[in-house]
Amino acid sequence: MPDRLPDDGRFLKACRGEATDATPVWFMRQAGRYMPEYRALRATHSLLDLCHEPALAAEVTLQPVKRLGVDAAILFADILLPFEPLGLGLSFATGEGPHIARPIRDAAAVNQLPELEPEEALAYVLQAVRLAVSQLPQGIPLIGFAGAPFTLASYAIEGGATRSFALTKRFMYEQPAAWHRLLSKLADFVGRYLAAQAAAGARALQLFDSWVGCLSPADYATYVFPHSQRALELAGASGVPVIHFGTDTATLLVDFARAGGDVIGVDWRIPLDVAWERIGSSPARAIQGNLDPVALLAPRPELERQVRDVLARAGGRPGHIFNLGHGVLPETPVEALQAVVEWVHGG
Ligand code: CP3
Repeated sequence: MPDRLPDDGRFLKACRGEATDATPVWFMRQAGRYMPEYRALRATHSLLDLCHEPALAAEVTLQPVKRLGVDAAILFADILLPFEPLGLGLSFATGEGPHIARPIRDAAAVNQLPELEPEEALAYVLQAVRLAVSQLPQGIPLIGFAGAPFTLASYAIEGGATRSFALTKRFMYEQPAAWHRLLSKLADFVGRYLAAQAAAGARALQLFDSWVGCLSPADYATYVFPHSQRALELAGASGVPVIHFGTDTATLLVDFARAGGDVIGVDWRIPLDVAWERIGSSPARAIQGNLDPVALLAPRPELERQVRDVLARAGGRPGHIFNLGHGVLPETPVEALQAVVEWVHGG
């Protein structure tokens, strides 16, 4: 276990379920296009350039900390970066999201995936972790992250974004052995990648299972649960708190939480108190969430009502980390996020 430094701020305390002076808050996608200083850098650098250059990645990581007064920083990177060393061919077309040039469609492609050491394959990410940590103010911990096996597999198989997850589910049903081999390779890699980020200085880790909510509870249990559990176990062995995040998980929540994580991240489709009840208290977990990111576009009184509703549902219990239910949208006004931080901190 790493030492509990005296500068452990409210975010890390809440991750451990300890009482805090105010509710900690950070936002998924808190670095991004809604910020003028981010757009300025993007005018001359592609998204992948920003990720590949540790000095730039560290700079972008710090932008929202300076602007918003959040209680944690999240490393600037992307869940799909491992696809480059895995040889899948990753690019981001403006406005169209990710594109994978050589998607995985059969068992042969799974078997051909190289065995990677995260310290070598993604050395630049670990360097960005070290740099960001050295530049962050005292008491603001860095969160490292990775994509969960299912969400990564869905991009690797579909080749980009999808609404139906038809190719992913067909692969799962038609080639279950290859599916489990793919997910176990991804689980092993992301688990070790997360642990490497902790070794480089990240004080918490988040596993993003952004699209897991497209699955039935039965399919989650059969095709995904053991692999998420493995990735979370490898990450947890590093000794830092692990946040297990998914969207649309209301019907999966019992198994989703059982797969692991010290903190469970939930979206707005389920009231926070109902989610907390469903997650249960053995073992005790912290909870992260769960404002609808679109509420940030609402008139200020409606936004404030929704923020106070989330806080009321948490009811001052230790172990609540305020966040959105998913990432900040590019059209979000900076001032809306600043207002949320103030309200959550007791203003
Ligand atoms: O501030 C932060 O949260 C850290 C940075 C971060 C990025 N991506 C940078 C990024 C994080 C945590 C991610 C995670 C990520 N990436 C997820 C999981 C979280 C989620 O939103 O569900 C997923 C599914 C991806 C894959 C991905 N990357 C998509 C689908 C897209 C395109 C959609 C979009 O918003 O344009 C990206 C691009 C991406 N990754 C951007 C950023 C800031 C877009 C900005 C740009 O083009 O400059």
